[in-house]
Amino acid sequence: MTRALELAAQGLGRVEPNPAVGAVVVREDRIVAEGFHGRFGGPHAETIALEQAGPLARGAELFVSLEPCCHFGKTPPCTGAILAAGVRRVVAAMTDPFPEVAGRGLAVLKEAGIETAVGVLEERARRLNAAYLKRLRTGRPLVIAKWAMTLDGRVADASGDSRWISSEASRRFVHQIRRLCDAVVVGAGTAVKDEPLLTVRHVEPLPERGQPLRVVADDRLVIDPSREPAKSAREVPVIVYTTADALAERRERADALRAAGCELVAVPKGPGGVSLAAVIEDMGRRGMSRVLVEGGPRLLGSLFAERLADRVMIFISPRILGSAAAPGPAAPGRKGDSPPERKGDSPLPVRTLADALQLEDLTVQSVGPATPGRSPDVLIEGRLGEF
Ligand SMILES: NC(=O)c1ccc[n+]([C@@H]2O[C@H](COP(=O)([O-])OP(=O)(O)OC[C@H]3O[C@@H](n4cnc5c(N)ncnc54)[C@H](OP(=O)(O)O)[C@@H]3O)[C@@H](O)[C@H]2O)c1
Repeated sequence: MTRALELAAQGLGRVEPNPAVGAVVVREDRIVAEGFHGRFGGPHAETIALEQAGPLARGAELFVSLEPCCHFGKTPPCTGAILAAGVRRVVAAMTDPFPEVAGRGLAVLKEAGIETAVGVLEERARRLNAAYLKRLRTGRPLVIAKWAMTLDGRVADASGDSRWISSEASRRFVHQIRRLCDAVVVGAGTAVKDEPLLTVRHVEPLPERGQPLRVVADDRLVIDPSREPAKSAREVPVIVYTTADALAERRERADALRAAGCELVAVPKGPGGVSLAAVIEDMGRRGMSRVLVEGGPRLLGSLFAERLADRVMIFISPRILGSAAAPGPAAPGRKGDSPPERKGDSPLPVRTLADALQLEDLTVQSVGPATPGRSPDVLIEGRLGEF
């Protein structure tokens, strides 16, 4: 099953909104064939592995990271291929909650006299397909919050310069994550201050997916159409989530952004700017499976306040800035507001340790090699909610 999950991971970013699935055919404790679902609409992992196994599949065991399908979708049901191949035993990491499967895939096999088992490495399988599972359950994409900070929790220096807190290896790693995502999101503050490209660069984008959509949360339409990321919106699309008020009050700016190629989408106001719940809802309607929110602090503050982040990725650079004037990773309110005195509508209701968001499934790794004078960054990843 470990191998099946490794194979499945190779489909991530290529198969959405389908799940990533891997399968291995085992005879006498040896893997004789394997396969994974490699593109949306393409053949399923089981059929690839069984085809590769040929006559060796008869009497063999099939390990698959998700329950085999039993319905006609873009491809015929995998249960049919499994029965035809004469497999003796099928082991699935988890059942597929897809309404047309939901346990029926395994039931069909069992009824036909095949031994079945489910729940092997289930947690890992769930983590791998979190985006699929969340979309299926909620219609919304998996939301990953990412930032880079120093050991003393600063995401920029006192002048607001954050290039680059993290190492080159970490940035390369982020580009690998970006390429699995449908969208990369920043707040207007970061767009104005850093003029980020938000594209996949240090690695090749996946051919099935291309560049992620670039998204700016800009409730007052302050971003400049002649600067990045708006400037290159014709090459890589940019969506600006804003408010109806801003569209009415800043008509010229709105027209200039549209002329630059940006799509402007009005959503309701939220405590810190635009309603991020509405933004994510809209992304779900657009069919997105996985989005990466890259800051800055005010946007992340709202994201956490609205309890919208599913995962966090924190790159920690082994350096200390030691400046109280330098910002931390998640700040409440707008510029000029002074938390926590801000009254009533503070977007960050986390005031006490008891209310703090708790990370689960924590993993810690160092990213890249040590270079002279610099130890590698540390990446902490964790889950915040169910997905
Ligand atoms: N180290 C890192 O990982 C990292 C990553 C990104 C950025 N940064 C640094 O962070 C700094 C910028 O951060 P920032 O906090 O000033 O800006 P930000 O979080 O990028 O953007 C905040 C602005 O976005 C708008 N906005 C729209 N909807 C919002 C919502 N629901 N919640 C919060 N804001 C919303 C608001 O604009 P209005 O004020 O116009 O209403 C708000 O001021 C820069 O120095 C940048 O270099 C560091």
